[in-house]
Amino acid sequence: MSGAQPHQDPSDVEHWIARDAARVWHPFTQMASFADNRPLIVADADGLELIDVEGNRYLDAISSLWVTTLGHRVPELDDAIVRQLEHGAHTTMLGNGNTIVVELSEALARVVPVDGPHFLYASDGASAVEQALKIAFQYWVNRGEPSHTTFLAFGGAYHGDTVGAMSLGDDSGFGAELFAPLRFPVLRAPGFDDPTCFDTAIAMLERHHNEIAAVVIEPSVQAAAGMQLADPDGLTLLGEACRARGALLLCDEIATGFGRTGTLFASEQHGLRPDLLCLGKGLTAGYLPMSVTVASDEIYRSFFGDDLGPRTLYHGHSYAGNALAAAVALRHLELIDAWDVLANVRERSDELADLLHDRIAPKSAVRDIRLRGLMGGVELAPPAAGLRWGRKVSAAAVERGVLLRPIGDTVILMPPLTIGSADLHRMVHALAAAIDETADASLDAER
Ligand SMILES: Cc1ncc(COP(=O)(O)O)c(C=O)c1O
Repeated sequence: MSGAQPHQDPSDVEHWIARDAARVWHPFTQMASFADNRPLIVADADGLELIDVEGNRYLDAISSLWVTTLGHRVPELDDAIVRQLEHGAHTTMLGNGNTIVVELSEALARVVPVDGPHFLYASDGASAVEQALKIAFQYWVNRGEPSHTTFLAFGGAYHGDTVGAMSLGDDSGFGAELFAPLRFPVLRAPGFDDPTCFDTAIAMLERHHNEIAAVVIEPSVQAAAGMQLADPDGLTLLGEACRARGALLLCDEIATGFGRTGTLFASEQHGLRPDLLCLGKGLTAGYLPMSVTVASDEIYRSFFGDDLGPRTLYHGHSYAGNALAAAVALRHLELIDAWDVLANVRERSDELADLLHDRIAPKSAVRDIRLRGLMGGVELAPPAAGLRWGRKVSAAAVERGVLLRPIGDTVILMPPLTIGSADLHRMVHALAAAIDETADASLDAER
């Protein structure tokens, strides 16, 4: 028997929500209240918009959790996948190769800020981070310097939800604290919201460089910390300190990569040349799950040794180097260039900064605005704790046809990189009205 429900009206949203809640377990979601929070059930996507089962349209202002770069149903990207299907959807990377993966790796090698790059593919961002951790650790073992067993990471850091990535991440309010007994300890510098964080990190590096396997950083923006912006000079100094001390620099550009901050990679803006670079999210334009750990030639060669010998990296994932994902990632790189997407990010970022300055910053309900490229965070100023303003403002924006999602009381603005001026206005207009509605309702409740 098929799972289809023959008597259901396909536009009956309550019915879809009930079916969803009955079977699907959503990430980062309390399922007991899932249905009460009026989830969007998407039936279709078109350009920068999502269309729900009732036919309502929403601007995808969070790029489907920061992955969609050029919009949905881009004919050129759709076509790349269809063409690759004629050659096979997936073949294993374990000991064998695939032409489309070779082509993608060559194209990436021309643009990543890594010296002599080599590419180990995975599927999600967290898996790319896990791979990088193990590579950094084993690099020192292979070199005969096994004392380098710890990592230096930052306050507010977020690198994914697998246990290793969670260990690098801070107690972020995403529930990582619960797993403290499973997480390995790291050296922790302050977060980007503390102006001394890079001085402290450099001092820690000086003290502990003989123990550190890698310094791990989200270049430019700590996204999941609510878009905390790094002091650009501090970041450059940290990169220089790593070089001077021979410490590995591991840059997690899973959120910042592929044009988000106005350059293809944020590391470029700070003169960083990471030894290990993690990419994911926008790699495939938001089409298919693919991530990659990029290693410098020096790291890569330290793994050379006897066939089946102990210097080999014994790590891999079933879908590593998926051919469909590689095909769309390759076409995506070409389109970023052909459409001058980076210029659009910079222009729209300036425009968004002005709009936020004029329309959002003057509100007493707003504490701070942080923006780099098209990564933005509007931190709200609720009059008391526990009012869930982030949630309420986002829900009020959804009511106005703009899909937003907060991190705590910071509303995240992450529109696709091809957004135009009219949609930027639409996003800010909805946000402004949503903030007013939420603040007014709070005042009314107090009266
Ligand atoms: C900087 C950073 N690293 C890693 C991850 C984890 O990526 P994924 O959710 O694909 O596992 C994220 C996700 O938001 C991220 O922002």
